[in-house]
Amino acid sequence: MADRLPLMAGNWKMNLNHVEATGVVQKLAWTLQDKRYDPTKAEVAVIVPYTDLRTVQTLVEGDKLPISYGAQDVSVHVSGAYTGEISVDMLAKLKCKYVVLGHSERRQYHGETDIIVNRKAQRVFRAGMVPIICVGEEWESRRKEGHIPFVLEQLRWCLTDLEDEWMRKLVIAYEPVWAIGSGQVASPEDAQDMCLAIRSYVATHFTQEIADQLRVLYGGSVKANNIRDIMAQPDVDGALVGGASLDPEEFAKIVLFYQEA
Ligand code: 13P
Repeated sequence: MADRLPLMAGNWKMNLNHVEATGVVQKLAWTLQDKRYDPTKAEVAVIVPYTDLRTVQTLVEGDKLPISYGAQDVSVHVSGAYTGEISVDMLAKLKCKYVVLGHSERRQYHGETDIIVNRKAQRVFRAGMVPIICVGEEWESRRKEGHIPFVLEQLRWCLTDLEDEWMRKLVIAYEPVWAIGSGQVASPEDAQDMCLAIRSYVATHFTQEIADQLRVLYGGSVKANNIRDIMAQPDVDGALVGGASLDPEEFAKIVLFYQEA
């Protein structure tokens, strides 16, 4: 089995302006340094609003911080008359490593479909960045025990025509919609079952080697006090953290899940 470096990604959503971002990133970096963060044990990323990206880039490059960063979405178009949109080239120029795609909030409020996610993912890879593709079921689907087929169907469309080279770098985030911002975290076993199902799907439809390298994250009400049990699961390779990533001390504890309590 390949060694997968856990990824702890903080999705700030529509929070923290660029001035606030400076304070949060600096405090996160100091806290990690103070607590002897080891980048070989976990990667840390912040997924910030577009208007914060240049500030975060300047901080990370200027102070050589061991923090990756990325955007929360991107346009499906390359360039041109698309008022309000941001292109993959613009994000690549800001040295973004990651672009989150298909977050349930974008699916719910902005009509993002699996097919759009797939087209965006191809653009993101071609621009040299890595998509974090989000999938996850609503409560109704889980209640009826249809959650695994539902998520695998999302994946089927999202992963269409992705090249093997890309798949080796891809990150998939399983975020059950009912667990997002609700305080109702999935049980570690539920997270494991879905992350394993996702990995098995990739093994079947791509190769076992790609599946072994694929990082599958869990997201939904992750906090410092539940991260260890989630990360103890063999197929969970990290977390996509919303609310708790806005507090740098709390987020640092999540990143440092591998240390003794
Ligand atoms: P919360 O951690 O606030 O539940 O949000 C999860 C999420 O949507 C991360 O993308």
